[in-house]
Amino acid sequence: LNNGLARTPQMGWNSWNYFACNINETVIKETADALISTGLADLGYVYVNIDDCWSFVTRDSEGQLVPDPKTFPSGIKALADYVHGKGLKLGIYSDAGAFTCEVRPGSLFHEKDDASLFASWDLDYLKYDNCFNLGIKPEKRYPPMRDALNATGRTIFYSLCEWGVDDPALWAGKVGNSWRTTDDINDTWASMTTIADLNDKWASYAGPGGWNDPDMLEVGNGGMSYQEYRSHFSIWSLMKAPLLVGCDVRNITAEAFEILSNEEVIAVNQDSLGVQGRKVYETGTDGCLQVWAGPLSGHRLAVVLWNRCSEAATITAGWEVLGLESSTSVSVRDLWQHKYVAVDAVASFGAQVDSHDCHMYIFTPQTVARSAI
Ligand code: GLA
Repeated sequence: LNNGLARTPQMGWNSWNYFACNINETVIKETADALISTGLADLGYVYVNIDDCWSFVTRDSEGQLVPDPKTFPSGIKALADYVHGKGLKLGIYSDAGAFTCEVRPGSLFHEKDDASLFASWDLDYLKYDNCFNLGIKPEKRYPPMRDALNATGRTIFYSLCEWGVDDPALWAGKVGNSWRTTDDINDTWASMTTIADLNDKWASYAGPGGWNDPDMLEVGNGGMSYQEYRSHFSIWSLMKAPLLVGCDVRNITAEAFEILSNEEVIAVNQDSLGVQGRKVYETGTDGCLQVWAGPLSGHRLAVVLWNRCSEAATITAGWEVLGLESSTSVSVRDLWQHKYVAVDAVASFGAQVDSHDCHMYIFTPQTVARSAI
């Protein structure tokens, strides 16, 4: 969507994956505080996004949405002021249907009123869900909210959450700043890997202004191993996915923090070229040994060797699958070890990768390598 936002994928936090409906203004404020105190905000995680359940179960007598008085007694504008006071941005959630998924009032046919209300609260981001949609196609239901947001005069990030219905990559580029390509993620290896493959299919449609959204991060929620979370974060970064932290940042583990704060991996996600990396090679049983890669600015490449098999194995990226001439000499920087592991690799580069783990690299072809090292 050409509204000036999302030149790189959005970064921040969202309440749903960890808190689900158990949210309140204290949780949101403490999370904003924690994004600052941990340093995550300085790394780019600036959107603080409230998901479902902030709203009271009915509109007021004038037909306006109202924050749940028990959980958000100070109102959303006060929360926006608090979050803005920290240099962060506040996001909210509604639904392109009669109700949200947790049966709060939806915004379908209330787009103008609700967009005006969100703008009057100084909100910066809207996630717009797909429940109770009356069987109307998303291509019809999502543009009215785009137009209503645009008419407010406030620039608001527009995140479509239509679960991949009707192949949004084909039509959502003019509608939203990001669109979901799949159903909801859950905190398992099976869910994460399935979603990665589904999102990969739409790589060519992503770019500055509009990104494929394979759903929010589960890093730190406990259902996957350190290696699996590192793979999750590496592949989401390579795929130019939104990086929306989904754990309780107030009580983040050292392991989750180490993963989410890897500046070299974040830099791949936020690279100015804005091209979604993709699976370029697979071998082994059911293709479980994989190479994912994509171009970066400065003629560099981001490369992930991903072992989805149940045993450690060597994975080799040949220059032909990366689109390089076989004689090209390449420097290889490991983004998890934070060091160069080769300065003059030719024809291929391989490494032993543990089960469910990945290695992530930046490959710099020699013509530009010397100045980069
Ligand atoms: C849907 C969305 C999720 C979350 C929930 C909230 O399932 O896809 O991301 O917003 O609704 O109810």
